[in-house]
Amino acid sequence: MAESLLEIVGLGKSFGGLHVTNNVSFQLNQHEIVGLIGPNGAGKTTLLRLIMGILKPSFGSIRFKGKNISGLKTWDIVNLGIACTFQNMRPFRRLPIIANVMVSCMCPRAMKRGEWVKRIEAKAMDALEFAGISDMALEKASTLSQGDLKRLEIARAIGTEPELLLLDEPFGGLSPLETDLMAKSIKRLHKGGRFGRLHSEGPSMIIVEHKLQQLMKIADRILALSFGTLIADGKPDEVVQNPHVIEAYFGEGGI
Ligand SMILES: Nc1ncnc2c1ncn2[C@@H]1O[C@H](COP(=O)(O)OP(=O)(O)OP(=O)(O)O)[C@@H](O)[C@H]1O
Ligand SMILES: [Mg+2]
Repeated sequence: MAESLLEIVGLGKSFGGLHVTNNVSFQLNQHEIVGLIGPNGAGKTTLLRLIMGILKPSFGSIRFKGKNISGLKTWDIVNLGIACTFQNMRPFRRLPIIANVMVSCMCPRAMKRGEWVKRIEAKAMDALEFAGISDMALEKASTLSQGDLKRLEIARAIGTEPELLLLDEPFGGLSPLETDLMAKSIKRLHKGGRFGRLHSEGPSMIIVEHKLQQLMKIADRILALSFGTLIADGKPDEVVQNPHVIEAYFGEGGI
């Protein structure tokens, strides 16, 4: 059995009386890609924010590589090896694209002692190449299209050399062609290559997506959330045929 990288037990989050995350438990294995699906407002982004320490859990625990990380600061969680991309992207718009990535390459986890600016710049360039936008490195982030902003988000996340990468709707707002290109980039990143700690194996991933057909092509396993509760966890084709999942998306009676 593969070693578990992330272990979530009985996780809960309430805002006032609203239970946005409800007793969620699951494990993620090393090198696994897990898709996280569910209708709008199901609590997908909230779950990623809890893992990243942006929100504090009301109940339960989150363990990463055996260490309890619930309640830690986001900065510390990034330094342990988890990174995420955001659904609402907020780059430093007036800075060049490469500077946006250099900032993440300078986090303590990724930066080696005595590293020079040139070396950090080269690393940021590598991350941009991985994400497929190295030809635009010197342009301002404000000039990027929605699709390329998503690529910048990925470059910024891999600049921290994560072992676990959380992607919030990487295909959101992309054309079918851009979606295909993004799916290819994600697969290539997962395969690994020559980038810092990612030299041999790429990161494990949790991918939140509404484009189920594309997600099913890259995910090993799918988790489905509805009203903050995990209603399915299994192989992609099994989960999308699960009556509870169909009901969550389309209401009672299905399609
Ligand atoms: N800070 C907050 N305060 C109060 N309610 C919140 C807060 N953040 C999220 N919620 C509520 O929690 C629920 C889940 O929101 P979340 O953003 O996690 O959903 P989601 O599954 O990511 O949806 P989408 O597919 O639309 O991105 C929603 O009802 C939302 O209004
Ligand atoms: Mg969301």
